[in-house]
Amino acid sequence: MNFSLVPLHKHPQYLQECCELLNSEWKRSLTARLHSLKSSSDDLPVSFILLQNKRLIGHLKLSSIPSIKHGCFMESVVIRQTERGKGFGRILMQMCEDYCEKNGLNVIYLTTKGQEGFYKKLGFKECLPISIYGYSSNLNISKSVTVKSSAPVAPPMPNTNNILSQVKIKTHMNKESKNDQSRWYVVKANASICVDKQRSL
Ligand SMILES: CC(C)(COP(=O)(O)OP(=O)(O)OC[C@H]1O[C@@H](n2cnc3c(N)ncnc32)[C@H](O)[C@@H]1OP(=O)(O)O)[C@@H](O)C(=O)NCCC(=O)NCCS
Repeated sequence: MNFSLVPLHKHPQYLQECCELLNSEWKRSLTARLHSLKSSSDDLPVSFILLQNKRLIGHLKLSSIPSIKHGCFMESVVIRQTERGKGFGRILMQMCEDYCEKNGLNVIYLTTKGQEGFYKKLGFKECLPISIYGYSSNLNISKSVTVKSSAPVAPPMPNTNNILSQVKIKTHMNKESKNDQSRWYVVKANASICVDKQRSL
């Protein structure tokens, strides 16, 4: 079986189908979805599609993180529903990691709610949340200030522990490249790199 990972904007004939694939998992208006997919470019952001003998199997998107020059943010990772559990998600991720390494992106960040096991299998680890400004420290460090006042004391806050334990919070994960030879140059979603890259099962 031949697989190729190609940038969507170089293969616009898959745009509509890709919209449907994403919308089958995360419902959004067609206009919003098209707008997001059409932002795919030769630089980041770029949407990649996984093709198996020209059939659309999966999608993921990479975006830049302004504060982390050699890192990128991965999102909208999806495999066609009927094709899950066959190793295609692993292929999609590995081909994308190869692309990142070749393009000087040595760390991939993502967030997930429920697929932690999948990403852990592929070597991702939990990490601190990142923002476009880098690691976010304000989530973990806080400082309280006591202000003297004659105002009446506020009633105690309700105990939210039970509620919070039921709310699934996103897990932040990352994976660093093991390849010390990563070349450091401006990221280009070079179609030929991706189109030429084929794997056999
Ligand atoms: C998550 C997703 C991309 C995985 O793709 P897939 O093709 O089903 O995954 P694979 O078959 O390649 O699985 C690779 C390995 O991960 C394991 N795995 C897959 N999903 C897993 C999960 N949720 N928990 C633990 N392990 C998981 C598989 O058992 C397999 O392990 P093995 O190689 O030891 O057999 C796919 O299920 C999907 O599209 N889900 C819906 C969209 C979604 O949730 N995307 C993630 C957004 S953060």
